[in-house]
Amino acid sequence: MSSKATGLKGVVLDETRIALIDGDEGKLVYRGYNIHDLAPHASFEEVCYLLLCGSLPDGGQLSAFDAQLRASRAIPQPVIEIIERLKAAHPMDVLRTAVSATVALDESSDDATIEVALPAGIRLIAQAATIVAAMHRLRNGLEPVAPRDDLGHAANFLYMMFGHEPSVEDAKIIDLDLVLHAEHSSNASTFAARVAAGTAADIGSAIVAAIATLKGPLHGGAAEAVQKTVEEIGDPDRAVEYIKDKIEAGEKVMGFGHRVYKNEDPRGQELKGIARDLGHKRGNDRWFQILQQVETAMEPYRAKGIYPNVDFYAGAVYSLLGIPEEQFIPMFVVGRMPGWVAHVLEQYEDNVLIRPLLEYTGPRHLRYKPIAER
Ligand SMILES: CC(C)(COP(=O)(O)OP(=O)(O)OC[C@H]1O[C@@H](n2cnc3c(N)ncnc32)[C@H](O)[C@@H]1OP(=O)(O)O)[C@@H](O)C(=O)NCCC(=O)NCCS
Repeated sequence: MSSKATGLKGVVLDETRIALIDGDEGKLVYRGYNIHDLAPHASFEEVCYLLLCGSLPDGGQLSAFDAQLRASRAIPQPVIEIIERLKAAHPMDVLRTAVSATVALDESSDDATIEVALPAGIRLIAQAATIVAAMHRLRNGLEPVAPRDDLGHAANFLYMMFGHEPSVEDAKIIDLDLVLHAEHSSNASTFAARVAAGTAADIGSAIVAAIATLKGPLHGGAAEAVQKTVEEIGDPDRAVEYIKDKIEAGEKVMGFGHRVYKNEDPRGQELKGIARDLGHKRGNDRWFQILQQVETAMEPYRAKGIYPNVDFYAGAVYSLLGIPEEQFIPMFVVGRMPGWVAHVLEQYEDNVLIRPLLEYTGPRHLRYKPIAER
């Protein structure tokens, strides 16, 4: 009898100490800390340390870790040139290639050991933000802005994107968004990173595999799709009708549903409040109102375990901060980097090749025919 689990649904791959997702309760825990506790209190840098090193840092540990991140922000000139050459391509193609080039130019990262992968991973966490900001600048015909080492990770990221120091409030919102995206157990991209690490490939290869996997609209691409939906709906009064048509056509509504959460996604709950407050502050409540109407129209599907996920309100937050749609998936990469790095380290710790089976259902006894007889 077949024991297949299509899409590896419900399959436990291994043990982890990095994150717990309780899909029925709608609970996300990083290294023992509930996301609702971390979100209002911990900075992205603290969360990176927590995920990579296993516990919250004390003051000295955090300063040393932060200094390491700040010192790693610059990207090599050839990477900037590659981004310039590719600037019109899909941002995820540019990002994947730029990270791959950064890794290729970093001679000290090509070894599948924790000693090499930890500092290399920290460098990549810092550099990913610089790459994404440079991508945005070059795509829009602007010069890249060099990182500043007197700003935190989120504030420096916004500074490199827009060329001016962000307000404390905007930097705090991005910091929180990065915290919420930092880790999510064995999601598709993290699984891809672990599969690559499981072959004893270097951390750079594993991160590139993860970025490639995140691109799809069923994973990282959903926030972009949600924002497109919001634009298409245009008016809160049209939302219910729009969703009805979508569902009747058998289409999925982007930003809803999750493989693991069959209850509210706690990250979405955090982002919902931010989208509401920010919309109000910026004098643009329309996006939030449309999203709310969509959420109401989707209420009957809660019984099936379909709730808004992290991507549902993320797009509105990014748009209100001036981050264009095409940079939404790259934003996800900037946030998810520490999670990927932590999983690669955990995989190296007790490595085993990841190699599932496929149940063959094709023909078995065909005989080769010369081409003239086919
Ligand atoms: C995330 C996702 C791929 C999870 O998929 P999954 O675990 O394989 O769940 P399934 O696709 O098997 O869905 C189970 C049921 O819920 C329905 N469903 C799931 N997500 C839905 C959505 N967004 N809109 C409408 N119906 C949905 C499916 O049609 C299916 O219904 P059925 O049992 O009548 O066939 C899926 O929910 C989805 O495509 N969501 C939209 C994209 C998105 O927002 N992705 C970001 C995830 S963080």
